[in-house]
Amino acid sequence: MSYQNLLVEVSERIATITFNRPKTLNALNRETVLELKAALMEVSSRDDMGVVLLTGAGGKAFIAGADIPIFQQFTAMEALDFALLGQEVLGFIERMPQPVIGVVNGFALGGGCEVAMACDMLIAADTAKFGQPEVNLGIIPGYGGTQRLPRLVGRNVAKELVLTGDMITAQRAYEIGLVNRVVPAAELMATARDIAKKILSRGPVAVRTAKMAMNRGLDMDLQNGCALEASLFAAGFATDDRVEGIAAFIGKRTPEFKGK
Ligand code: COA
Repeated sequence: MSYQNLLVEVSERIATITFNRPKTLNALNRETVLELKAALMEVSSRDDMGVVLLTGAGGKAFIAGADIPIFQQFTAMEALDFALLGQEVLGFIERMPQPVIGVVNGFALGGGCEVAMACDMLIAADTAKFGQPEVNLGIIPGYGGTQRLPRLVGRNVAKELVLTGDMITAQRAYEIGLVNRVVPAAELMATARDIAKKILSRGPVAVRTAKMAMNRGLDMDLQNGCALEASLFAAGFATDDRVEGIAAFIGKRTPEFKGK
């Protein structure tokens, strides 16, 4: 896997996808979003990649939003296409089987904050900054920001962020429930990898179906969400992982899951 705007590395069943346009603080243009789609599709189809980490190159930014100069000439139809493309790719992050951890090493603004919000969990450096500054440019978020942010942090806090365009610190992002953990920048990647390894040690089918139950269930009412959960719970009993996990508990040993 080789790309112009991304770096993709795989080790110990962890795929790390790094946005790599540091001169623009990893701003998202169409090519980068298309490459992200291709990289995620490749990773999602491979059994040897159990967790994905998304991060930014250059030390200063995760992603500082859409590549602003391309907006100068956009027609309304081009803007619609750009929004729908990004929304499709971010929706795929939520639907792909592997957990995706956002490793937020710096600015996560606009589309960057939206990419982060599509991840299954977020670890942020204490120097990271989050925000939806689109109103400063006279536009609104287009990659799901007006939809995912209220779902994640509540309506009024989301409105404050989207309507003022203000940036918040990683600590504030933690307080409002946007990120899971804030760690010193030097410990960021090691912390994310530790969480990834812990997830990798659990039953792979269970991890996959639990992600599905939560992400799909969030778009359902409680009754239907619980019905989905019951079906996936039952499906888990047809797996070798269930046999192994329960035998290991009873035998007081560490399970050896096969993901089947
Ligand atoms: N698109 C394109 N280029 C961007 C960019 C973006 N979203 N964000 C930053 N850059 C570029 C800058 O133009 C600058 O390029 P230059 O060195 O050729 O002038 C370079 O990245 C460094 O940015 P700079 O603004 O000098 O860094 P800073 O530390 O002073 O400020 C930010 C950092 C993130 C606060 C500031 O760059 C910013 O506000 N960016 C736009 C964020 C935004 O509105 N995103 C939403 C877009 S919809």
